Amino acid sequence: MTTTINPNKALWEKGDFARIAATMRESGEALVESLGITPDLAILDLGSGDGTTAVPAARRGASVLGVDIAGNLVAAGNARAESLGLTNLRFEEGDASDLRGLDDDSFDLVVSIFGAMFAPKPFDVAKEMVRVTRAGGRIVMGNWIPNDPTLVAQILKISSAYTPPPPEGFVSPMTWGIDRNVIERFGAAGVPAEKISFVRDTFIFNFDGPPARFVDEFRKYYGPTMNAFEAAEKNGRAADLQKELEALFGSQNTSTHATSIPATFLRVTVAC
Ligand SMILES: C[S@@+](CC[C@H](N)C(=O)[O-])C[C@H]1O[C@@H](n2cnc3c(N)ncnc32)[C@H](O)[C@@H]1O
Repeated sequence: MTTTINPNKALWEKGDFARIAATMRESGEALVESLGITPDLAILDLGSGDGTTAVPAARRGASVLGVDIAGNLVAAGNARAESLGLTNLRFEEGDASDLRGLDDDSFDLVVSIFGAMFAPKPFDVAKEMVRVTRAGGRIVMGNWIPNDPTLVAQILKISSAYTPPPPEGFVSPMTWGIDRNVIERFGAAGVPAEKISFVRDTFIFNFDGPPARFVDEFRKYYGPTMNAFEAAEKNGRAADLQKELEALFGSQNTSTHATSIPATFLRVTVAC
Protein backbone atom coordinates (compact mmCIF):
# COMPACT_ATOMS: atom_id res chain seq x y z
CA MET A 1 0.00 0.00 0.00
CA THR A 2 1.30 3.47 -0.82
CA THR A 3 0.44 6.56 1.16
CA THR A 4 0.28 9.84 -0.73
CA ILE A 5 2.43 12.59 0.68
CA ASN A 6 0.76 15.97 1.03
CA PRO A 7 3.60 18.32 -0.05
CA ASN A 8 2.02 21.30 1.72
CA LYS A 9 2.00 19.39 5.04
CA ALA A 10 5.46 17.93 4.42
CA LEU A 11 6.89 21.42 3.80
CA TRP A 12 5.77 22.75 7.16
CA GLU A 13 6.53 19.58 9.14
CA LYS A 14 10.00 19.46 7.65
CA GLY A 15 11.63 21.94 9.96
CA ASP A 16 10.44 23.54 13.16
CA PHE A 17 8.63 26.78 12.45
CA ALA A 18 8.33 27.31 16.22
CA ARG A 19 12.00 28.43 16.15
CA ILE A 20 11.12 31.27 13.77
CA ALA A 21 7.82 32.00 15.51
CA ALA A 22 9.76 32.61 18.73
CA THR A 23 11.14 35.75 17.06
CA MET A 24 7.67 37.01 16.09
CA ARG A 25 5.92 37.04 19.48
CA GLU A 26 5.99 40.81 20.13
CA SER A 27 4.33 41.57 16.80
CA GLY A 28 1.82 38.75 17.31
CA GLU A 29 0.90 40.35 20.62
CA ALA A 30 0.61 43.83 19.03
CA LEU A 31 -1.57 42.54 16.21
CA VAL A 32 -3.92 40.77 18.62
CA GLU A 33 -4.05 43.91 20.78
CA SER A 34 -5.38 45.80 17.73
CA LEU A 35 -8.23 43.31 17.17
CA GLY A 36 -10.37 44.35 20.14
CA ILE A 37 -10.75 40.82 21.48
CA THR A 38 -13.26 40.25 24.26
CA PRO A 39 -13.93 37.08 26.32
CA ASP A 40 -17.26 36.38 24.60
CA LEU A 41 -15.66 35.78 21.18
CA ALA A 42 -15.17 32.41 19.50
CA ILE A 43 -11.99 32.66 17.42
CA LEU A 44 -10.45 30.41 14.79
CA ASP A 45 -6.73 30.91 14.09
CA LEU A 46 -5.99 29.26 10.74
CA GLY A 47 -2.44 28.20 10.02
CA SER A 48 -1.88 29.02 13.67
CA GLY A 49 1.61 27.56 13.99
CA ASP A 50 2.37 27.16 17.70
CA GLY A 51 0.19 30.11 18.65
CA THR A 52 1.87 33.46 17.94
CA THR A 53 -1.60 35.01 17.64
CA ALA A 54 -3.73 32.24 19.22
CA VAL A 55 -1.99 32.51 22.61
CA PRO A 56 -2.44 36.29 23.06
CA ALA A 57 -6.04 35.97 21.82
CA ALA A 58 -6.74 33.29 24.45
CA ARG A 59 -5.02 35.39 27.13
CA ARG A 60 -7.77 37.95 26.51
CA GLY A 61 -10.33 35.34 27.54
CA ALA A 62 -11.74 34.40 24.12
CA SER A 63 -12.38 30.80 23.21
CA VAL A 64 -9.70 29.98 20.63
CA LEU A 65 -9.18 27.08 18.26
CA GLY A 66 -5.91 26.92 16.33
CA VAL A 67 -5.97 24.82 13.16
CA ASP A 68 -2.75 23.96 11.39
CA ILE A 69 -1.66 21.40 8.82
CA ALA A 70 1.60 20.60 10.62
CA GLY A 71 1.27 17.96 13.34
CA ASN A 72 4.48 19.08 15.08
CA LEU A 73 3.21 22.67 15.38
CA VAL A 74 -0.19 21.53 16.66
CA ALA A 75 1.62 19.52 19.36
CA ALA A 76 3.84 22.52 20.19
CA GLY A 77 0.77 24.78 20.41
CA ASN A 78 -1.08 22.42 22.72
CA ALA A 79 2.03 22.14 24.91
CA ARG A 80 2.20 25.96 25.15
CA ALA A 81 -1.52 26.19 25.98
CA GLU A 82 -1.09 23.61 28.73
CA SER A 83 2.03 25.17 30.22
CA LEU A 84 0.31 28.57 30.25
CA GLY A 85 -2.85 27.10 31.83
CA LEU A 86 -5.00 28.34 28.93
CA THR A 87 -7.95 25.92 29.06
CA ASN A 88 -9.81 28.10 26.51
CA LEU A 89 -7.20 27.37 23.80
CA ARG A 90 -6.64 24.21 21.82
CA PHE A 91 -4.97 23.29 18.57
CA GLU A 92 -5.92 20.62 16.06
CA GLU A 93 -4.72 19.44 12.69
CA GLY A 94 -6.63 20.61 9.65
CA ASP A 95 -6.35 22.04 6.18
CA ALA A 96 -7.43 25.65 5.52
CA SER A 97 -8.75 24.64 2.10
CA ASP A 98 -11.05 22.00 3.57
CA LEU A 99 -12.32 22.71 7.08
CA ARG A 100 -14.60 19.69 7.29
CA GLY A 101 -15.51 19.10 10.90
CA LEU A 102 -16.03 22.81 11.57
CA ASP A 103 -19.65 23.93 11.39
CA ASP A 104 -20.96 26.82 9.32
CA ASP A 105 -21.20 30.19 11.14
CA SER A 106 -19.28 28.96 14.19
CA PHE A 107 -16.73 31.76 14.73
CA ASP A 108 -16.98 35.49 15.44
CA LEU A 109 -13.45 36.04 14.20
CA VAL A 110 -11.24 34.03 11.87
CA VAL A 111 -7.61 35.12 12.01
CA SER A 112 -4.92 33.89 9.66
CA ILE A 113 -1.56 35.58 9.90
CA PHE A 114 0.81 34.23 7.23
CA GLY A 115 -1.10 30.96 7.56
CA ALA A 116 -3.96 30.30 5.11
CA MET A 117 -1.97 32.09 2.41
CA PHE A 118 0.25 28.98 2.27
CA ALA A 119 -2.63 26.54 1.63
CA PRO A 120 -3.22 25.36 -1.91
CA LYS A 121 -6.54 26.14 -3.64
CA PRO A 122 -6.98 29.78 -2.57
CA PHE A 123 -10.59 29.97 -3.75
CA ASP A 124 -11.48 27.03 -1.49
CA VAL A 125 -9.62 28.73 1.37
CA ALA A 126 -11.67 31.92 0.99
CA LYS A 127 -14.90 29.90 0.77
CA GLU A 128 -14.08 27.92 3.90
CA MET A 129 -13.13 31.02 5.90
CA VAL A 130 -16.42 32.70 4.94
CA ARG A 131 -18.43 29.54 5.63
CA VAL A 132 -17.22 29.14 9.22
CA THR A 133 -17.55 32.86 10.08
CA ARG A 134 -20.94 33.93 11.41
CA ALA A 135 -22.88 36.79 9.80
CA GLY A 136 -21.64 39.98 11.45
CA GLY A 137 -18.26 38.39 12.18
CA ARG A 138 -14.80 39.23 10.79
CA ILE A 139 -11.96 37.62 8.94
CA VAL A 140 -8.48 39.09 9.38
CA MET A 141 -5.63 37.88 7.20
CA GLY A 142 -1.96 38.84 7.18
CA ASN A 143 -0.34 38.14 3.81
CA TRP A 144 3.20 38.72 2.61
CA ILE A 145 3.41 40.92 -0.49
CA PRO A 146 5.09 39.75 -3.70
CA ASN A 147 8.19 41.75 -4.70
CA ASP A 148 8.03 43.79 -1.51
CA PRO A 149 11.57 44.89 -0.64
CA THR A 150 11.31 43.75 3.02
CA LEU A 151 12.46 40.52 4.66
CA VAL A 152 10.06 37.66 4.00
CA ALA A 153 9.15 38.50 0.41
CA GLN A 154 12.88 38.77 -0.31
CA ILE A 155 13.73 35.47 1.46
CA LEU A 156 11.08 33.71 -0.63
CA LYS A 157 12.23 35.45 -3.81
CA ILE A 158 15.90 34.61 -3.26
CA SER A 159 15.02 31.02 -2.26
CA SER A 160 12.89 30.50 -5.36
CA ALA A 161 15.89 31.32 -7.57
CA TYR A 162 17.68 28.26 -6.13
CA THR A 163 14.70 25.87 -6.17
CA PRO A 164 13.33 23.95 -9.15
CA PRO A 165 10.21 25.53 -10.69
CA PRO A 166 6.96 24.52 -8.97
CA PRO A 167 4.63 21.99 -10.63
CA GLU A 168 2.28 23.19 -13.34
CA GLY A 169 -0.86 24.81 -11.94
CA PHE A 170 0.81 25.79 -8.65
CA VAL A 171 -0.59 29.07 -7.35
CA SER A 172 2.02 31.08 -5.45
CA PRO A 173 1.06 31.88 -1.83
CA MET A 174 2.33 35.41 -2.50
CA THR A 175 -0.68 36.07 -4.76
CA TRP A 176 -2.64 36.57 -1.50
CA GLY A 177 -0.63 39.78 -1.08
CA ILE A 178 -2.32 41.48 -4.05
CA ASP A 179 -5.61 43.32 -3.40
CA ARG A 180 -7.35 42.27 -6.60
CA ASN A 181 -6.72 38.55 -5.96
CA VAL A 182 -8.11 38.87 -2.45
CA ILE A 183 -11.21 40.65 -3.80
CA GLU A 184 -11.67 38.01 -6.50
CA ARG A 185 -11.32 35.08 -4.06
CA PHE A 186 -13.67 36.48 -1.41
CA GLY A 187 -15.98 37.68 -4.18
CA ALA A 188 -16.32 34.09 -5.40
CA ALA A 189 -17.22 33.19 -1.80
CA GLY A 190 -20.05 35.75 -1.88
CA VAL A 191 -18.39 38.75 -0.18
CA PRO A 192 -18.73 42.07 -2.05
CA ALA A 193 -15.59 44.18 -2.50
CA GLU A 194 -16.89 47.00 -0.29
CA LYS A 195 -16.75 44.65 2.71
CA ILE A 196 -13.02 44.07 2.27
CA SER A 197 -10.42 46.55 3.48
CA PHE A 198 -6.65 46.64 3.15
CA VAL A 199 -3.83 48.24 5.09
CA ARG A 200 -0.08 47.79 5.03
CA ASP A 201 1.22 46.73 8.40
CA THR A 202 4.55 45.61 9.85
CA PHE A 203 5.75 42.51 11.69
CA ILE A 204 9.12 42.73 13.43
CA PHE A 205 11.41 39.71 13.77
CA ASN A 206 13.50 39.97 16.95
CA PHE A 207 16.37 37.49 17.28
CA ASP A 208 18.86 37.44 20.12
CA GLY A 209 22.01 37.11 18.03
CA PRO A 210 23.66 38.52 14.93
CA PRO A 211 21.88 38.47 11.53
CA ALA A 212 24.08 35.63 10.17
CA ARG A 213 22.95 33.38 13.03
CA PHE A 214 19.34 34.26 12.25
CA VAL A 215 19.98 33.12 8.65
CA ASP A 216 21.15 29.80 10.14
CA GLU A 217 17.82 29.46 11.96
CA PHE A 218 16.01 29.78 8.63
CA ARG A 219 18.44 27.34 7.01
CA LYS A 220 17.87 24.74 9.74
CA TYR A 221 14.20 25.22 10.63
CA TYR A 222 12.14 27.10 7.96
CA GLY A 223 10.77 24.62 5.39
CA PRO A 224 10.95 26.87 2.29
CA THR A 225 14.55 27.90 3.08
CA MET A 226 15.53 24.32 3.95
CA ASN A 227 14.27 23.21 0.53
CA ALA A 228 16.17 26.01 -1.19
CA PHE A 229 19.42 24.98 0.54
CA GLU A 230 18.85 21.31 -0.34
CA ALA A 231 18.41 22.24 -4.00
CA ALA A 232 21.36 24.67 -3.90
CA GLU A 233 23.61 21.99 -2.32
CA LYS A 234 22.90 19.67 -5.24
CA ASN A 235 24.13 22.36 -7.64
CA GLY A 236 27.08 23.41 -5.47
CA ARG A 237 25.43 26.81 -4.86
CA ALA A 238 24.69 26.63 -1.12
CA ALA A 239 27.46 29.11 -0.27
CA ASP A 240 25.97 31.62 -2.74
CA LEU A 241 22.54 31.28 -1.18
CA GLN A 242 24.00 31.70 2.31
CA LYS A 243 25.85 34.83 1.17
CA GLU A 244 22.75 36.35 -0.46
CA LEU A 245 20.66 35.74 2.64
CA GLU A 246 23.33 37.08 4.99
CA ALA A 247 23.56 40.25 2.87
CA LEU A 248 19.76 40.60 2.97
CA PHE A 249 19.44 40.05 6.73
CA GLY A 250 22.44 42.30 7.46
CA SER A 251 21.13 45.15 5.33
CA GLN A 252 17.64 45.02 6.88
CA ASN A 253 18.74 44.74 10.50
CA THR A 254 17.90 47.80 12.58
CA SER A 255 19.54 46.64 15.83
CA THR A 256 23.12 47.37 16.83
CA HIS A 257 23.51 44.52 19.37
CA ALA A 258 21.19 41.75 18.05
CA THR A 259 18.78 41.30 15.14
CA SER A 260 15.57 43.23 14.64
CA ILE A 261 14.08 43.21 11.16
CA PRO A 262 10.75 44.78 10.16
CA ALA A 263 8.74 43.18 7.36
CA THR A 264 5.75 44.71 5.58
CA PHE A 265 2.57 42.72 5.03
CA LEU A 266 -0.91 43.25 3.64
CA ARG A 267 -3.52 43.19 6.37
CA VAL A 268 -6.92 42.22 5.03
CA THR A 269 -10.16 42.64 6.97
CA VAL A 270 -13.36 41.10 5.70
CA ALA A 271 -16.70 42.04 7.28
CA CYS A 272 -19.00 39.03 6.93
C1 LIG B 1 4.63 31.15 8.24
S1 LIG B 1 3.84 30.02 9.31
C2 LIG B 1 2.84 31.11 10.32
C3 LIG B 1 2.35 30.50 11.60
C4 LIG B 1 1.61 31.44 12.56
N1 LIG B 1 0.40 31.99 11.99
C5 LIG B 1 2.52 32.52 13.03
O1 LIG B 1 2.32 33.70 12.65
O2 LIG B 1 3.45 32.23 13.80
C6 LIG B 1 2.66 29.26 8.22
C7 LIG B 1 1.77 28.28 8.93
O3 LIG B 1 0.70 27.89 8.05
C8 LIG B 1 0.52 26.49 8.20
N2 LIG B 1 -0.12 25.98 6.99
C9 LIG B 1 0.42 25.85 5.76
N3 LIG B 1 -0.48 25.33 4.92
C10 LIG B 1 -1.62 25.11 5.63
C11 LIG B 1 -2.89 24.58 5.32
N4 LIG B 1 -3.18 24.11 4.10
N5 LIG B 1 -3.84 24.52 6.29
C12 LIG B 1 -3.55 24.93 7.55
N6 LIG B 1 -2.34 25.42 7.90
C13 LIG B 1 -1.39 25.52 6.96
C14 LIG B 1 1.93 25.96 8.43
O4 LIG B 1 1.96 24.68 8.98
C15 LIG B 1 2.51 27.03 9.35
O5 LIG B 1 2.24 26.77 10.69
